[in-house]
Formats: sequence, C-alpha cells, structure tokens
Amino acid sequence: MIVLAIETSCDETAAAVVERGTIVRSNVIASQHDLHAEYGGVVPEIASRAHVERLLPVVREALKEASIGLGMIDAVAVGNRPGLIGSLLVGVAGAKALAWALGKPLVAVDHVRAHLYSGVLAGGSPPAFPALGLVVSGGHTSLYLVRSWTALERLGSTIDDAVGEAFDKAAAILGIPYPGGPNLDRLAREPGANDRAHEFPIARLAPESLDFSFSGLKTSLLYRVRGVPQGAGRGREAASLTPTERRDLAASFQRAAVQAVILKLERALPAAASRAGTPVATLLTGGGVTANTRLREELRAFASRHTLDLRLPPMDLCMDNAAMIAGLASPHLASGITSSLDVQAHATALVDP
Ligand code: KG4
Ligand code: ZN
Repeated sequence: MIVLAIETSCDETAAAVVERGTIVRSNVIASQHDLHAEYGGVVPEIASRAHVERLLPVVREALKEASIGLGMIDAVAVGNRPGLIGSLLVGVAGAKALAWALGKPLVAVDHVRAHLYSGVLAGGSPPAFPALGLVVSGGHTSLYLVRSWTALERLGSTIDDAVGEAFDKAAAILGIPYPGGPNLDRLAREPGANDRAHEFPIARLAPESLDFSFSGLKTSLLYRVRGVPQGAGRGREAASLTPTERRDLAASFQRAAVQAVILKLERALPAAASRAGTPVATLLTGGGVTANTRLREELRAFASRHTLDLRLPPMDLCMDNAAMIAGLASPHLASGITSSLDVQAHATALVDP
C-alpha cells in the first residue's frame, strides 16, 4: 500500500509518499516562512497563492525522491481540516484531481489528529491502544483518547492561545528573533540559565478540566518585562533586558509552559482510562512544540512514571508535514474508510460525533 499525501493547511506546502503506513519514502516540505516574515505572521491570501504555485513541484519532488511514478500510488490522502480555508482548498482540490485522474481512493484526514501519527513514523512495533494523545503546535493544543487510529475522541483543548503560539509571543515579548519557539528553547538551555528565577502562573482551570489556557502565562511574562501598566506609556522594552535577565525569563517561562502541559497529562491519564474502561498503554505525541528540549525530557519522565510507551516524533516530523497525513490515512484505508470526491475543506477541527 503506497499513499501519496498532500498537506497545505497553513504556510507549508508539503507532499509525502508513505508505504504500508510506516515507511517514509519521501517527505518534501516547501516552507513559506520567507514570504510571511516581513509581516510578522502568516498572511492567508499570500499563503494560498504560494500553495497554488508550489503544489505540483512539491508533489513531483515527493514522487522523484520516492523513486515512483504516479501509476504506483494506491491512494491519495489530504489534510482537509483544520486550517486556513484558502490554503486547505488548494491541497484538497489538488488531491481530488489526482485521485480522480488516477482512479484511486481519496482519504481526507484531520491535520491535528494526524500529528499524533508522526511519532509512529519513527519505526518500531505498532502502538497498543487505548492511547492518550497530545498535540502541541502553533495552532493547536489538544488531548485525545485514541481508541484506535480510526476512533479518536477529543478530551480537551486550549481555550485561548496554543502552546506554540505562547512560545512565539513570549519570544516576541523578550525580543528573541524569529523563529521564536526554537530560539527561546535554545536560550533557555544556555549554561547558567535559571528556570527558577521567576514563578509564572500555570492555569489549572476547573478541577477536572482537561482544557488548556496560556494567555495568563503570556500576560504575566509581559508584565514582568514591561511592568504592570499604569496609565499611558508602554513601560520598559525588551531591549533594556540584560542577557542574564532575558535568559532567566526564557527559562522560567519555558518551565511554566511545559509544566502546564504535564499537569493536564497527569489529569488526562486517569480520565482517558476511565472513559476507555481499561488502562492506557501508549502516549502518542506530535506538533511543533514536541521539538522543545525541555518538553521532550518531561514527556520521557512522565511516560516512565506511568509505564507508558511514549511515541515522540523524530525532529524532522514534529513540524507540519505530509508524511503524518499519509500515515493516518493508511489505517483508514485498511479499514475501508475513504472520502468521496465532494469532500470539503473545513477551517475547524473534526468534532466527535
Ligand atoms: O506543528 P507546527 O509546525 O505548526 C502548526 O500546526 O501550528 O508548529 C509550529 C509551532 C510554532 O509555534 C513554533 O514556535 C513551535 O511549534 N516550536 C517550538 C519549538 N520548535 C517549534 N516551540 C518551543 N520549542 C521549540 N523547540
Ligand atoms: Zn500542525
């Protein structure tokens, strides 16, 4: 079974070829970061136009790297939600056209759920279910009960900023250059960085809540840097921070952000087991923030405390990619679940039935 997948939900045009749901034969990603950098964020209209220009070259490259022709493809997969609607439309239209022209099945999958598959692409035996799923990215922070690859239930998600977004905004507040998340991570790792210099708030929400909130943490950092607003004026700027202050603020922020994620995992584990009616065996993780050094360490510690089989994505599969889309599509195909050619793109994530 060879699946060609397309991913265009945000600002990366990606295509990949995955064999038997586990062997990544190619994984091509054309980043648009250069196009959006001068605006300080993704401009949706520019993103969709760039997808139109890049989709076919990226698909061709993915086939070439995999050393296969279109005739060898068994199915076409696409991430059809959630994301920027104009961007998603390009990938969905391209995938439909390919599936129709080749006379092969089409499988549309939820991009956030697909992130959970990226850890499985590292190799090893198939994961045991039920699993707890954690997606931490620039756009999403979500917990899932994964009964199987075709039966996922969302247990919680962020009520405001995503954790990656919080990292990016924290980096902007601290005057850390783009790309914010990875650079903040690097700064927090510098020798001498004191992650206990500041106590930042960790949102717990209601006692049983499995939702996340990162806006209070971000605001707290902002006030720590600029002072609590007292009338007109912006207070102190990041430029006046000493290198030691910046490093300690970065390390303390990162400790709080990671702790907020681990806290919800601690709550979610018994909640998922009780919902599934059986203990959870596996922790599936994915999304850009799984590249964070401290989060990776804490996830390993969490998994070992609870004897969970942890699936962490390899560094090159943490970020948005099409291999994870092909991956999640594979068990769907194996179960005979495909999409019709009138499947739509949706800006929002899949809501459980
Ligand atoms: O999964 P992704 O590529 O895109 C979305 O689907 O949103 O995630 C990108 C996010 C960005 O917010 C980026 O700052 C964050 O992942 N990120 C990190 C690190 N590497 C990427 N955040 C913290 N530490 C990192 N090392
Ligand atoms: Zn993503």
